[in-house]
Amino acid sequence: MLDIQKIRADFPILSQKVNGKPLVYFDNGATSQKPQVVIDAIAKYYQEINANIHRGVHTLSQLATDAYEISRGKVKNHINAKYAHEVLFTSGTTFGINLVANGFASILKPGDEVIVSSLEHHSNIVPWQMLCEKTGATLKVIPMDENGELIIAEYDKLLSPKTKIVTVNHISNALGIINPIKYIIDKAHEVGSAVLIDGAQAVPHLKPDVQALDCDFYAFSGHKMCGPTGTGILYGKEVWLNKLPPYQGGGEMIKEVTFEKTTYADLPHKFEAGTPHIAGGIVLGTAIDYMNEIGFENIQKQELELLEYATKRLSEIDDIRIYGTSENKTSVISFNIDGIHPYDIGTIIDKLGIAVRTGHHCAQPIMNFFCIPGTIRASFSFYNTKEEIDALVEAVKKAQMMLS
Ligand code: ALA
Repeated sequence: MLDIQKIRADFPILSQKVNGKPLVYFDNGATSQKPQVVIDAIAKYYQEINANIHRGVHTLSQLATDAYEISRGKVKNHINAKYAHEVLFTSGTTFGINLVANGFASILKPGDEVIVSSLEHHSNIVPWQMLCEKTGATLKVIPMDENGELIIAEYDKLLSPKTKIVTVNHISNALGIINPIKYIIDKAHEVGSAVLIDGAQAVPHLKPDVQALDCDFYAFSGHKMCGPTGTGILYGKEVWLNKLPPYQGGGEMIKEVTFEKTTYADLPHKFEAGTPHIAGGIVLGTAIDYMNEIGFENIQKQELELLEYATKRLSEIDDIRIYGTSENKTSVISFNIDGIHPYDIGTIIDKLGIAVRTGHHCAQPIMNFFCIPGTIRASFSFYNTKEEIDALVEAVKKAQMMLS
């Protein structure tokens, strides 16, 4: 069993008051809070080894380079990539997806097809629409049902030799649904398609094994898993990363530059132009260490308990509707109270110290499916407690009384 109070003490922000009330932070789907080890590691980097990487013979540059590459190795081990050079540092999931979508512009032809799902975040829809506009390819969408599950029989029908890439999230940000990605990946491979998995909402809850999944790309952010904002990872199979053109041109991504012709650096540097978020990359490794020390089995157990408790407690509220009722869920509850705008509830409960996300959650097609403007989303982390859920339930009831 996790000692939650001991874990909470690792996160200085959690003991704060907001609007005069103890903070109840249930917006973990947007970004997680940061433990003291992560905060300290950022300061330590700037205090002790700040220098640019891969560029200098001087000691600080070498120390910073080593720390950055050690962190890349930690990520490689964490996601079980075959090679460290298949792990690209990015600024976040959005960057990773755009990198791949941009690369596919040199592969797709008119008539080719890209499959996304109806459960995607805008960042896994818009880059593919832009790609289709550029190349004449067609975007196909896997439909969803009332429980928030993808209709897999329809997915099977969409696949054909025209399918060039299937791109779906591991876990839906708006509803918390866990998608059957292993099935999706295997079926896509049967027709020769590549597969990208948007793992942004998965990595705070589980350890993806990219070799076991056999995905071609897996993109995620560091800031949702206790790491700094502005950090992310794109995993790509070596064969694919060699096939795709560079995304950005600049320093560090070249072998040789002349005005006649430029040749590109080997992986991973071919995709890492410019000075990266060095402190962030290094400290993402610290965050991964921290989460592994807590242990993903423990994290899942705690979060499942919170999900079950919150589902039961919130269901006691009159006129509540929870969206995403599938059994395959992580610790996210998206809900509305009949006749009340989610924004109004969010604003009132914020005054009571409770932080949730309200709105369309950058997933407007899901809101359109349910014919709603948005939801109230409470997303739990391993450092949350049942007492905090009680506070949420009381606050929502209070808001409901005030607004009815
Ligand atoms: N994508 C993040 C969320 O779902 C910001 O809240």
